[in-house]
Amino acid sequence: MDKFLIDGGRSLSGTVHTQSAKNSVLPLLAASVLTEKQVTVEEVPPIADALCMMQILRELGAKAEFCGGNVVIDSSDACSHELSSALTKELRSSVFMLGSLLTRFRRAVIAYPGGCDIGLRPIDLHLSALKRLGVKIEEREGFIFCKCDTLRGAEIALDFPSVGATENILLAAVKAEGKTLVHGAAKEPEIVDLQRFLNAMGAKVRGAGTDDIEIEGVKSLGGVCFRPIKDRIEAGTYLMACAICGGEIEVTGVSPENIRLLLHKLRENGCKIHAKNDKIRIYSSGRLKCNRRIETMPFPGFPTDLQAQATALNSGAEGGAVIAENLFETRYKYVPELRRMGADIEVKGRLAFVRGVKRLHGASLTAGDLRGGAALVLAALGAEGTSEVFDLSHIDRGYADLQGKLTALGARIKRIRV
Ligand code: EPZ
Repeated sequence: MDKFLIDGGRSLSGTVHTQSAKNSVLPLLAASVLTEKQVTVEEVPPIADALCMMQILRELGAKAEFCGGNVVIDSSDACSHELSSALTKELRSSVFMLGSLLTRFRRAVIAYPGGCDIGLRPIDLHLSALKRLGVKIEEREGFIFCKCDTLRGAEIALDFPSVGATENILLAAVKAEGKTLVHGAAKEPEIVDLQRFLNAMGAKVRGAGTDDIEIEGVKSLGGVCFRPIKDRIEAGTYLMACAICGGEIEVTGVSPENIRLLLHKLRENGCKIHAKNDKIRIYSSGRLKCNRRIETMPFPGFPTDLQAQATALNSGAEGGAVIAENLFETRYKYVPELRRMGADIEVKGRLAFVRGVKRLHGASLTAGDLRGGAALVLAALGAEGTSEVFDLSHIDRGYADLQGKLTALGARIKRIRV
């Protein structure tokens, strides 16, 4: 078990090159079993979620290995269509493997992924969409048994623009008989990336990034070598680190369009932002004003994956802020840890009422989930004195070398074995 030891109060300067997007790499790795040809996903960050997805592919009988910074997958020998409960529970977003496995094997069995630290995370939208495509589904003893004679294109209307359900539909419809139309699709940049990836394999997908996606089933899919988009949530995390600490940094690799609302909120805090092509420069005095209100929404709204970091930022800013978490039921588990640092936050259901304090003080903290853990690190960087952050396994799921990248920017953060 490791911990971070963080001395707060140092301003940041320098450049951060963002990693490939975790939430693009995961569905791309899942999509690799759609073909028996070789698939290369370039510049995969060595984060725990990616390693877990590679383990899932191996469990299915595929080869999945790092070659330099790339992951090369050969699923020609893949023969199993069953995901063990251990891996499904470890990586609940593996649920979008259902689409790939059904396309490849017409069969799929996964353990019910169940909830996690941020909410119930049902998969009803996934399952009802798969049924529309002709899949017979049985749920018993905590497992989901899926089978179909053939996948048939259908018209599907999603009650909510679920990212995972949209991805599952693309993966299940890409070789289905006929055309599939998805209305009310998720519009995240990672969905557009998946469309680019599938079309590079020979698929016919159009409309990703809008409410309506059309998939025309094709007979076969070839291999591909593909570079995913960069991680907009990692980029936003570093931008907010600089806002909190003060200083000036440049974050490269991410289109400003992909975090437009965050940039708007950071300007509201008093930061200067200069964005050109895939370079975003931020300057902060370190003395911030609170955002009046932040509402998390599906893309292009304010990302729920930046909500915890934004709450940490507002905790040490001047004034007050209301944070509304509209996507997940319990995404405030990090708040008691911020209170140990002197934060003045009251949570009522989906709302967090933040009254900014002059300065947070260091404390001994424990991460409870990926983005909540990142928020604690950001708060510690801006706090008076020294903090410890335990249970780094959550943070390691989504941030490659957080300690190294922050140290390169001038932060005083050490990773210590305990
Ligand atoms: C993806 O999760 C991301 N994960 C999450 O990032 C992100 O927070 C989320 O999208 C929202 O942007 C990956 O891409 C691997 P959803 P996903 O289906 O697909 C409800 C991170 O920190 N819902 O869009 O699971 C659900 O309960 C992670 O990187 C249903 O009701 O999110 C939630 O309230 C955390 N029924 C809302 O939709 C369903 O069948 C959004 O879920 C599916 C979802």
